[in-house]
Amino acid sequence: MSDPAPTEGLSTLLHEQRTFPPSAEFTAQANGQAELFEQAEADRLGFWADQARRYVQWEQDFSEVLDWSDAPFAKWFVGGTLNACVNAVDRHVEAGNGDRVAIHWVGEPEGDTRDITYAELHQEVQKAANALADLGVGKGDTVAIYLPMIPEAAIAMLACARLGAPHSVVFGGFSAEALHSRIDDAGSKVVITSDGGYRRGKPSALKPAVDAALNHDDNPVEHVLVVQRTGQDVDWTEGRDVWWHDAVGQAADTHEAEAFDAEHPLFILYTSGTTGKPKGIMHTTGGYLVQTAFTNHVVHDVHPDSDVYWCTADIGWVTGHSYIVYGPMTLGATQVMYEGTPDTPHQGRFWEIVQDLKVTVLYTAPTAIRTFMKWGSDIPEKFDLSSLRVLGSVGEPINPEAWMWYRENIGGDSAPIVDTWWQTETGAIMISPLPGVTAARPGSAMRPIPGISAQVVDDMGEPVGNDSGGYLVLTEPWPSMLRGIWGDPQRYKDTYWSRFDGVYFAGDGAKLDEDGNIWVVGRVDDVMNVSGHRMSTSEIESALVSHPKVAEAAVVGAADDTTGQAICAFVILREDAVQEADEEGEGQDLVAELRNHVAKEIGPIAKPRQIMIVPELPKTRSGKIMRRLLKDVAENRTVGDVTTLADSSVMDLITQGLQGGGD
Ligand code: WT7
Repeated sequence: MSDPAPTEGLSTLLHEQRTFPPSAEFTAQANGQAELFEQAEADRLGFWADQARRYVQWEQDFSEVLDWSDAPFAKWFVGGTLNACVNAVDRHVEAGNGDRVAIHWVGEPEGDTRDITYAELHQEVQKAANALADLGVGKGDTVAIYLPMIPEAAIAMLACARLGAPHSVVFGGFSAEALHSRIDDAGSKVVITSDGGYRRGKPSALKPAVDAALNHDDNPVEHVLVVQRTGQDVDWTEGRDVWWHDAVGQAADTHEAEAFDAEHPLFILYTSGTTGKPKGIMHTTGGYLVQTAFTNHVVHDVHPDSDVYWCTADIGWVTGHSYIVYGPMTLGATQVMYEGTPDTPHQGRFWEIVQDLKVTVLYTAPTAIRTFMKWGSDIPEKFDLSSLRVLGSVGEPINPEAWMWYRENIGGDSAPIVDTWWQTETGAIMISPLPGVTAARPGSAMRPIPGISAQVVDDMGEPVGNDSGGYLVLTEPWPSMLRGIWGDPQRYKDTYWSRFDGVYFAGDGAKLDEDGNIWVVGRVDDVMNVSGHRMSTSEIESALVSHPKVAEAAVVGAADDTTGQAICAFVILREDAVQEADEEGEGQDLVAELRNHVAKEIGPIAKPRQIMIVPELPKTRSGKIMRRLLKDVAENRTVGDVTTLADSSVMDLITQGLQGGGD
């Protein structure tokens, strides 16, 4: 942990006095009512048992709600068995809702759409499960999924779940290197990918990254299943590569699903931590399904028989797992899935989709909202957005200005906004308004939802009072909590359960306002949040140092109006590279080269906004880089206290060098 408890910079936010209670009509129809808080308060485990039996169909009922005897390794709904895919698909067909649209899929090229009903989805998941089984996938085998936002991404995940094969979805924007390390760490037997996808009006290839990722000795992959999306040319490895349309197309369309233990692993999802190595966050079946379905019902207020819900996240992040696939589908909801970017072919694309499909519930990220603000309110004004009745936000703090803009320009000044705080590790929403109950305050995620316990504590782990700041902790286990880090139980304990005794430390700083509402202010560790995507400073530093011209690197997240934080890197060159750059005046070329190198090592999302070539880095006497000072430079502030530096003239050297040139 590098920073003290975050208490600065909050005073202006916390003077926010406006509150927006729901209308009486909204409250009357809301799924989540105030009684939920009372019920959970009276009997927390009994409350979760009720939700478990209400939202999930168990093959065999559970005998114990929570076994916490081996803390922090939890077992929820002990003895229960279920199949996640049956819950998300089969039972809606059995209940007579097979004709309901599960996915209104919208491809990026205009007019390229597909509507898939629950009955069709049922057929597709059974075929895909049979095809995967033919490729040797069975219970406990991990499958890597590297796909664009096409229906096959959801179908592939559900087919894996049906077989009890944990999926490991890797965001399509990650590089071959990043894919390679995730495939190896999880030991995936099969990779599901596509030739490519559409992005910004052009086909963008994916298969070459898979080929490169597998171009290593002893890679665990036996087969690559390839969806044809763009029709672009692909290299083909006979015997290893299989077309989806051949394998799935020819597979039998009935598949008997087996029920698995509530604690059977459902998926692994890699996320950045404070070290260079991403963590494989492991989620299991029963508790995860219960909490994702419950929260999608009471927080997003999804009514499966009437709403058209749209979560704009990519399926490669946890938001896509919980609030595109498992939550809404367990409810049997109708949703929109969009392949492309918000500005293709025009900056009104989202609003056109809302208008055409009469979207009622929209869940997106603050970085997107701030981008729409920048593009101007005249763009959404051209579309009929009157169908929208609930708006959601996730991924990073939403500033009150963006919150108000969202409400006024997208929500017709009446739709409740739910600012939902959670993490890859928590699996589902933890802190959020309930839209029919809470009078929301712009910028605050408000209170833990029913059944969840959170606190803001000081350095000693003592709860802070109202109007003070500290660390956000979760004080009771919850159903959708991570069950560990794949292959590294010790890292799980060290990362989350060792900072404060017996409670989960989320890594976020937060403040309580005078009414006790929670304001999450961001990470207090070396993790950045760029456009709602989690990046670790040391992961990017390792990528930079792996370049032959780089001797040392320090990365900080600097405040950015649109992306929340932006990646800024300070780089010391190796001796020969310094000379070369000086002689040939190639500083700018080198910066471009280094940015591309990071994109190659991790992915384009990790490209630093700025790289500054410096002669020295500020270090304490014990050799720790003082990121706080570099952050001052990156945010164009006067450099703060330098007294703990080993050499206090270093900061002068850095700032002088930058004034004279740099990036
Ligand atoms: C980190 C988790 C939750 C899915 C997307 C990101 C930040 C998330 C909020 C919010 C303030 C938020 C936190 C958290 N965060 N939601 N509503 N207000 N901060 O998942 O990649 O696991 O990142 O995102 O810093 O720790 P993730």
